Amino acid sequence: MKFFEWSPKFATGNEDIDYQHQALFDKANSLYDMVNSGAEMRLGVEIILEQLIEYTDYHFKTEEKFMTDSHYADFEQHKAMHDALRKQVIDFQTKFKSGDADLSQELITFLKSWLTSHIQQTDTKLAKHIGH
Ligand SMILES: [Fe+2]
Ligand SMILES: [Fe+2]
Repeated sequence: MKFFEWSPKFATGNEDIDYQHQALFDKANSLYDMVNSGAEMRLGVEIILEQLIEYTDYHFKTEEKFMTDSHYADFEQHKAMHDALRKQVIDFQTKFKSGDADLSQELITFLKSWLTSHIQQTDTKLAKHIGH
């Protein structure tokens, strides 16, 4: 079983958002696998983490464009959640690069709970507003 297992409970009802969430889960699983490979994984983690951060930003921008294009009332609130997560992963990346690798597992556990709750609540609400 994968650490980030996709299931219908994560379907928001918008195809583009759901597709990107699944891609995000794939990237988060790659990070999980790398962290838990037991091998010398510092460089691998750095590369995958960078890809995960870039894709997360791309995904957030997609949702933020949907929100501005559709004059979504909760835009500010939703974007603030994205910005907080952006900051947290970049802070983590900085710490990781400076040698604190022990935080990897902690980041993955945090990401899993953040993503699952954000998708099921905040993104699902947005998807209802924009439709499929
Ligand atoms: Fe979102
Ligand atoms: Fe999302």
